[in-house]
Amino acid sequence: HEDDNSISYTIRAQQGTYEIFDGTKTKTYGYNGDFLGPVIRVKKGMDVKIDLVNDLNEDTTFHWHGLEVPGNEDGGPDKVLKPGEAEDIHFTVQQNAATLWFHPHPMHETGKQVFKGLAGMLYIDDANSETLNIPKAYGVDDFPIILQDKTFTEDNQLDYEKVMNEDGTTGDTLLINGVVDPRLSIDRKKVRFRVLNGSNMRSFTLHFDNNMEFQQIASDGGFLNKPNTTKEIEVAPSERAEVIVDLTKVKGNAVTLVNEDNTKILPIHLKESQGHPQTKTTKEAKTLNDLTLSNEIKNKKVTKTIKLAGMGKDVNINGKKFDPNRIDFTQKQNETEVWEIENVKDSMGGMNHPFHIHGTQFQVVSIDGKEPPENLSGLKDTISLKPGQKAGIAVKFPEKGVYMFHCHILEHEDNGMMGQIKVD
Ligand code: C2O
Ligand code: CU
Ligand code: CU
Repeated sequence: HEDDNSISYTIRAQQGTYEIFDGTKTKTYGYNGDFLGPVIRVKKGMDVKIDLVNDLNEDTTFHWHGLEVPGNEDGGPDKVLKPGEAEDIHFTVQQNAATLWFHPHPMHETGKQVFKGLAGMLYIDDANSETLNIPKAYGVDDFPIILQDKTFTEDNQLDYEKVMNEDGTTGDTLLINGVVDPRLSIDRKKVRFRVLNGSNMRSFTLHFDNNMEFQQIASDGGFLNKPNTTKEIEVAPSERAEVIVDLTKVKGNAVTLVNEDNTKILPIHLKESQGHPQTKTTKEAKTLNDLTLSNEIKNKKVTKTIKLAGMGKDVNINGKKFDPNRIDFTQKQNETEVWEIENVKDSMGGMNHPFHIHGTQFQVVSIDGKEPPENLSGLKDTISLKPGQKAGIAVKFPEKGVYMFHCHILEHEDNGMMGQIKVD
């Protein structure tokens, strides 16, 4: 339901079956359906009411990844709904246009519930996103691309217990928007892909098989200041990247989005246009946003240090495992602090950890002491660090409450690689 300045949704977590493979029923979870979820669309300034309903036979929570809402609305592990329970949340959208998502967050069960299909997208629109000269017609030239890898048992089931890996569950089957063997058949035009890596642990580095250039226009928290021309994008678990691809530049009638190892991600087939060449677009958007990072913030000294370490059962943050009764840090609402995040290299080498904070969109100040690259110059809620890497990030919480910070390899999170910060 919607009027000019308010909107309400009902979101039910449910279980069902879904025909991922022709002729077989896979037991799945989904929001308002059998598998994955709807795209929730809200505008900056709107009052939003969401009725949350847990129709599962197990506890769950509803977390709004990337959304700046009060801590008690953000669906962390402390906001459990038991089977059959329901709750309303209300908030006003305060942040700028962005592509966010939602997923469950119950302690020790997040990996399983996301793997079985609980994930949906949340788009925020604003005056800027509605007037910029970029593709913005949903399903016409503006497409969500939810990347997930899963392993199915011989009878095509998502048996998480069987395939689970403590260091992150990977899969041999790639799904896009819940579909195996996806393809896109489309007119030759400019398109926008809103890529979400909704995998439990796998990172993707995407490029086109013809090596064409395209433009990244947004990261986790919204538009970059200007389009960043590139040939590849990297998305770690939970990260988003929006890109614009000019399909009029493709020679021949096919091009395929591929992963770094050249495995097929999305084949695109270009339809022969029926004598209606796309109307000449007006001038392309050159300026997308006006983010700044003042010298004052850049030169602030680090006030919070986060050390990500360990593998398997030993994963930890600053030597500790998550304890719901422990507050690790405090910060004042609307005050910017610089956090230093370090992925500690150990004798085994270690692994990448995508570090995520709830309730904020932060800015990257430095990576290993240097200016961040263009693709990390916008707002972020997750930053993936390689072993030995260190980042400085400027963090501000516009709302109050208790928020989680954690590694977004879901099995690391479920293994306690998580802490809490109280904002007041
Ligand atoms: Cu998408 Cu606490 O995470
Ligand atoms: Cu989150
Ligand atoms: Cu991790």
